[in-house]
Amino acid sequence: MKNIVILISGRGSNMQAIVEAQIPGARIAAVISNRPGAAGLAWAAERGVPTATLDHKAFASREAFDVALAELIDGYAPDLVVLAGFMRILTPDFTRRYEGRMLNIHPSLLPAFTGLHTHQRAIDMGCKVAGCTVHFVTADLDHGPIVAQGVVPVQDDDSEDTLAARVLKIEHQMYPEAVRRFVAGELAIVDGRVKGRAQDATQWLISPSLN
Ligand code: GRF
Repeated sequence: MKNIVILISGRGSNMQAIVEAQIPGARIAAVISNRPGAAGLAWAAERGVPTATLDHKAFASREAFDVALAELIDGYAPDLVVLAGFMRILTPDFTRRYEGRMLNIHPSLLPAFTGLHTHQRAIDMGCKVAGCTVHFVTADLDHGPIVAQGVVPVQDDDSEDTLAARVLKIEHQMYPEAVRRFVAGELAIVDGRVKGRAQDATQWLISPSLN
């Protein structure tokens, strides 16, 4: 069994998708939030998943919080740490500690639109496609070896909310699958890149559609 610790800050819908996927060989050891009222905590607790809260506001510095967070996480002997809407910038010591065993999901097609407000920025730029990225976490915010990307069209009448909802649907499919692949030992980082499965190189997507 591989122990998985999931970090959240809010509703935790990606965490829910991962829990509900019942990934073979994986045990959700804990769901941890830096916000006491995070809705995802109650959802996990109701299903018998151990939960914990570490309020970042109780710490004088980012470093002190990250040290305490690592101690809490390590108490669950994690094989994998999953960031699922965990709204904290992490210190280099923290990211180094979990190098190669910490994943994040970001709601854009990285390396475009790191940071916040990704959907509105994609709309404002007139992007025709948008999406999400699962990647290994490094000290560089929203960088790190890419595991998987999902793409959706951007419609002319999209608002930030409608686009976010379309992207979130594929987040919920991709993230459990990425975790499953990690647990199955299928994710190898070679020269800073995650090797992918062979895909049909004759297939492409044009958006808007040309026919
Ligand atoms: C998701 O859009 C995720 O990509 C981003 O934060 C959001 C978290 O949503 N990192 P949820 O808490 O998983 O519902």
